[in-house]
Amino acid sequence: MIFVEIVAGGIGSRMGKDIPKQYIKINDKPIIIHTIEKFCYHPKVDKLAVLCPKDWMEYTEDLIKEFIGDSEKIVVLEGGDTRNETMMNGIDYFEKISNEERNILITHDAVRPFVTKEIIDENINCAMKYDACDTVIPATDTIVESKDGVVISSVPDRSTLFHSQTPQTFEMSKLKKYYNNLSDIEKEAMTDGAKIFRFNNDNVYLVKGDGTNIKVTYPHDLILAKAILDSNK
Ligand code: CTP
Repeated sequence: MIFVEIVAGGIGSRMGKDIPKQYIKINDKPIIIHTIEKFCYHPKVDKLAVLCPKDWMEYTEDLIKEFIGDSEKIVVLEGGDTRNETMMNGIDYFEKISNEERNILITHDAVRPFVTKEIIDENINCAMKYDACDTVIPATDTIVESKDGVVISSVPDRSTLFHSQTPQTFEMSKLKKYYNNLSDIEKEAMTDGAKIFRFNNDNVYLVKGDGTNIKVTYPHDLILAKAILDSNK
């Protein structure tokens, strides 16, 4: 089966608003709804879980009813204390409803509302073939590394560097197995599923992302998000 989890368990501290950033509206529609729409109308998706902070679950359900309507395809679940724990809560749910051995899990940030159908299709195809993929765009700025935050320790060759976006898509049971094998300290260091796969020396294939597939993080991203939305009209 093909499952999607929209990870929305964060509070958006860098955005600095009084509500989690995924609930901020862009052109009269909350960011999280823009994102859900991209997946819930996708013909290949069997079920979609939206994982959000406990106190926001009822509100999220109401938003889905208001903007999308009653949908058997969508379920709202509680997120976790970290992004990975949020991801694992979704897997626990999907495991219970799947009767297949091999399931594809698309993980996507609630705050990336401009993911395209092409990116989703490519993620599904790639993960079905190779078990793991990450959506990326080539680095445009030169990226420098500094181990102490004072001086540059290295300047990696830009042609080998990419920005990682989402979706990241995995064979679900493998991701769970790899995560469960980590120690608590390792879990803290693993920021996402791709890193968990690489830690286990397993391949993660690249899927071509898009410069407009931005993650809304800071207040200035809201200006950019509105411009992208308006340009798609
Ligand atoms: N996320 C999650 N569960 C967490 C933390 C984050 O599902 N415990 C989700 C966020 O809701 C977001 C995505 O992971 O959709 C990417 O994380 P980020 O942009 O860092 O979101 P926040 O953690 O909300 O932001 P900040 O770091 O500024 O607090």
